[in-house]
Amino acid sequence: MKITTIYFSATYTTKRVVEAVAKNLSSEIKVYDITNDTSTDEVAISADELVIVGVPVYAGRVPAMAAVRLRRFRGNNTPAVVVAVYGNRHYDDAVLELHDIMTEQGFCTVSAGAFIAQHSIFPKVGKARPDAEDISDIKAFAEKSAALVAKGFGGISLPGNRPYKVPGGIPIWPTASKKCTACGACARLCPTGAIDPESPKGVNKTKCIKCGRCIVVCPTKARRFYGIKYSLAAARFNSAFAARRGNEMWFAE
Ligand SMILES: Cc1cc2nc3c(=O)[nH]c(=O)nc-3n(C[C@H](O)[C@H](O)[C@H](O)COP(=O)(O)O)c2cc1C
Ligand code: SF4
Ligand code: SF4
Repeated sequence: MKITTIYFSATYTTKRVVEAVAKNLSSEIKVYDITNDTSTDEVAISADELVIVGVPVYAGRVPAMAAVRLRRFRGNNTPAVVVAVYGNRHYDDAVLELHDIMTEQGFCTVSAGAFIAQHSIFPKVGKARPDAEDISDIKAFAEKSAALVAKGFGGISLPGNRPYKVPGGIPIWPTASKKCTACGACARLCPTGAIDPESPKGVNKTKCIKCGRCIVVCPTKARRFYGIKYSLAAARFNSAFAARRGNEMWFAE
């Protein structure tokens, strides 16, 4: 089976989940990483291929930037495996929204999964996930999805509400401490151009989507969320969402 993967993944956990699905299905894999990809060229994907599309959940939704960037992919009744990766709180309407976007773009959802990963703003939650147990769930998910594609599939019923949840947010933005060596990695890899390469300790609060990429790519660990608002929110969040959630999967049977 020819596989195309499409993912938005700021701190690389969605990438890991999508890759784990794909590698269980084929070795012929075409990859579209849309995290930093501003191209608007249409990509047509034919019905004899299988697409695996993955996004992180941001405030219970598909990240707005990912939703825009997914619009250049066009299916022709092309089967799609839909994956939302979230930080152990909840996926809310994101699985449904991703399915809706892909349906509008000409894809047919064969299966959907909501998989847990380390939270990119509050990393003590979901710490070090996906782990071995998650990878084993992902393998079973991939195998069942492939079997359905081979045998034929119908409609799918997914959790979530329309209209989708209105995303909220906390007024926090990552900045860099004195440990910053001005190496420029964060500015180069920021998906929104929110860091000035000439002055990389700061952040453009209007452009920043709080995706956490600048934090994970900083080689000196200079960059993170600082301040009392973050500390208070983290303390609340860490205790509210400490319990391990399981992965959820749905199939068009
Ligand atoms: C702005 C933002 C909002 C988030 N909202 C949620 C959420 O609503 N529910 C949740 O469980 N995790 C949430 N997360 C955590 C991410 O979904 C999770 O860490 C995911 O693994 C990040 O994927 P990535 O590594 O591919 O960037 C949020 C993260 C960010 C950066
Ligand atoms: S500055 Fe904001 S948008 Fe850019 S990588 Fe950091 S968190 Fe993401
Ligand atoms: S990646 Fe870290 S060290 Fe490099 S410029 Fe950004 S904050 Fe400074």
